Amino acid sequence: MKKLISAILVVSVMVLFSSFVSAEMKDTYEFKGGSMGKITFNHKAHQDLLKDCKICHHKDEAGKENACGTCHTKDSKVKAKDAFHNNCQKCHKEMKKGPTGCKDCHKK
Ligand code: HEC
Ligand code: HEC
Ligand code: HEC
Ligand code: HEC
Repeated sequence: MKKLISAILVVSVMVLFSSFVSAEMKDTYEFKGGSMGKITFNHKAHQDLLKDCKICHHKDEAGKENACGTCHTKDSKVKAKDAFHNNCQKCHKEMKKGPTGCKDCHKK
C-alpha cells in the first residue's frame, strides 16, 4: 500500500512539473491578420518539414521556444507584421513552395 501511494505521488509530481516546464504548443495556430483576414498556420506540418526550430524561433534556446509576439509587437523595432512576412512569405518565395500571394495566406 505504501509503495502504491508513493508511486502515485511520484507520478503526480512528474505531471505537475512537466506542465510547468513545457510551454503550450499547438499543432495549428490561427492569426487574426487584421482587415486582410485570418491566417491558418500548420505548426506541426512545418516542424516535420523543416526540422530546425531555429529557422523561426531564432532567438530561443532549444526547448524554450516563445511566441513571436513576446518580442514582435505593433511597436517593436521589427514589427510583428514584418517579422511574420519576412519569415513566412520570404521562405515560401525562396523555396518556391507554400503560399506567397496575399489571399493565399489571408482568408476572410
Ligand atoms: C516555420 C516556422 C516555425 C518552425 C519551423 C517552428 N515553429 Fe514553433 N511556432 C511558430 C509560430 C509562428 C508559433 C506561434 C507563435 C505565436 O503565437 O506568436 C510557434 C509556437 C511555438 C510554441 C508555443 C510558444 C508559446 O509560448 O505559445 C512552441 C513551444 C514552439 N513553437 C516550439 C517549436 C519547436 C520545438 C520547433 C521545432 C521542432 C518549432 N517550434 C518549429 C513557428 C515555427
Ligand atoms: C526574444 C525575442 C524575439 C522572439 C521570441 C522572436 N524574435 Fe524575431 N527578432 C527579434 C529581434 C530583436 C530582431 C531584430 C534583429 C535581430 O536582432 O536579430 C528580430 C528580427 C526578426 C526578423 C528579421 C526582420 C527583418 O527585418 O528582416 C524576422 C523575420 C523575425 N524576427 C521573425 C520572428 C518569428 C517568426 C518569430 C517567432 C517564431 C520571432 N521572430 C521571435 C526578437 C525576437
Ligand atoms: C523556412 C521555410 C518556411 C517558413 C519559415 C514558413 N513556411 Fe509555410 N511552407 C513552407 C513549405 C516548403 C510549404 C509547402 C509544403 C508542401 O507543399 O508540402 C509551406 C506551406 C505553407 C502553407 C500551405 C500548406 C499548409 O500547411 O496549410 C501555409 C498556409 C503556410 N505554409 C503558412 C506559413 C506561415 C503563416 C508561416 C509563418 C508563420 C510559414 N508558413 C513559414 C515553408 C516555410
Ligand atoms: C505566408 C503567409 C502570408 C502572406 C503570403 C501574406 N501575409 Fe500578411 N500576414 C501573415 C501573418 C502570419 C501575419 C500576422 C498576423 C497577426 O499577427 O494577426 C500577417 C499580417 C498582415 C497584416 C497586419 C495585420 C494586423 O492587423 O496586424 C497586414 C495588413 C497584412 N498581413 C497584409 C498582407 C498583404 C497586403 C499581403 C500580400 C502582399 C500579405 N499580407 C501576404 C501572413 C501572410
